[in-house]
Amino acid sequence: MITFTLNGQAQRFEGDPEMPLLWYLRDVQGLTGTKFGCGEALCGACTVHADGAPIRSCQTTLGDLSGVAVTTIEGLSPDGMHPVQVAWRELNVAQCGYCQAGQIMSAAALLKDTPHPSDEAIDDAMSGNICRCATYPRIRAAIKRAAGEVHRKTASSGSAK
Ligand code: FES
Ligand code: FES
Repeated sequence: MITFTLNGQAQRFEGDPEMPLLWYLRDVQGLTGTKFGCGEALCGACTVHADGAPIRSCQTTLGDLSGVAVTTIEGLSPDGMHPVQVAWRELNVAQCGYCQAGQIMSAAALLKDTPHPSDEAIDDAMSGNICRCATYPRIRAAIKRAAGEVHRKTASSGSAK
C-alpha cells in the first residue's frame, strides 16, 4: 500500500504502483485541473507540487509518492486567492487556458523558494512549461506582480511575530 497526501487529504493506494500520478488525479480523483499535454515530461501541462517542488505528474508514478505531500491546482489555495492566481486574473494571463494550471504551479513553486526572482530565474524556472498561445510576456509580468505580493505578505507576517 502506498500512503501519501493529496491537497491535505490522506490517500491509501493499493493499485498498480506504476500508475502515473496524472491518471490518478484525473481518472480516479476527478481532479481535472491538471492537464495532459505530451505525456513525456516535455510540456509542463501536468505540473503539480510534491512536497512543494514542481513535478511532472505524467512521469511520476504512484510508487514514487510514498510519504509525499502532493498539491494540485485545486489545492493551491482554498479560495483561489494565492498571489499567483490573483496576479494571473488581474493581468488576464490565460488565452485558451490549457497550459495555465501547470504554469501557475511552476510559478508558485518558484516564488516560494525565490521571492524576488530575476528575469533569468523566471525564464529558467518556467522553461519547461510550454504555452502554445504564447502568453509568455503576461506570465512573466504576472510572476513579477505576484512576487511583490508574496514579499509583502512574508514581511508583514515576519513583523507580526
Ligand atoms: S503532460 Fe506531463 S509534461 Fe506534458
Ligand atoms: S494559454 Fe493556450 S496553451 Fe497556454
